[in-house]
Amino acid sequence: MATMVCVVPTQGDLIDAAAVCIASTAREAVRRRGRCLIALSGGRTAAALYARLATAPFRRAIPWTRLHIFWGDERFVPAAHAASNVRLARTRLLSRVPIPPQHVHPVPVECATPQAAAAAYERAIRRVAPGRAIPAFDLVLLGLGEDGHTASLFPRSAAVRARRRLVAAAVGGAPRLPRVTFTLPLVNQARRILWLVSGLRKSAIVGRVLDGPFHPRRLPAQGVRPRRGDVIWLLDRAAAHG
Ligand code: 6PG
Repeated sequence: MATMVCVVPTQGDLIDAAAVCIASTAREAVRRRGRCLIALSGGRTAAALYARLATAPFRRAIPWTRLHIFWGDERFVPAAHAASNVRLARTRLLSRVPIPPQHVHPVPVECATPQAAAAAYERAIRRVAPGRAIPAFDLVLLGLGEDGHTASLFPRSAAVRARRRLVAAAVGGAPRLPRVTFTLPLVNQARRILWLVSGLRKSAIVGRVLDGPFHPRRLPAQGVRPRRGDVIWLLDRAAAHG
């Protein structure tokens, strides 16, 4: 695993750097394997990124028709709900780029329970990426919560401990909602992980996750250690130095 920490001056620079990274990762995956499997995240930083990806030059630079879009976590709310991560990405990005609808794989929030949705999502992932015990995403986008959560893996929750499941049910966050989340084994199989962390509020937790004692159950973000893939931390100056 190779880890790179990249600090840029502003949030705008961070969004641009993330968009460049996504474009080059997608092109490389398509060149090598004919397609690119991406897991999106929720959060404010990701929201700004999605709007940017739908504009020039990224709109043309990304091989949209070859992408498969998943979500690393989703709030267990109806698809049209204001808190839906799928809705966020659809309105800002997916409705604006030429991505085939059958390549968009939302968490099935119509299931009766988050547990049922997690099991169904795991099956959906395996259908698109069959053959391996743990499918390898080409790119997983992650945000970092001030409490050390990432995706919907919250401190001391059962989902952080999941070892056999690819996707789990969870509860937490702001807004505090039932959720569905990738587990660490699935995240850690990724070929590339891209962290997007912006703002002064994040500086303390960035320091704890990167340099503090190793307590992945308390700080789930520390559990992100891909077996073979690389990790890119994109931080703006505020998040990096406080
Ligand atoms: C979610 C997330 C979550 C998010 C972080 C950072 O759906 O809530 O995927 O893990 O990425 O909380 O969010 P911000 O970018 O808003 O700080």
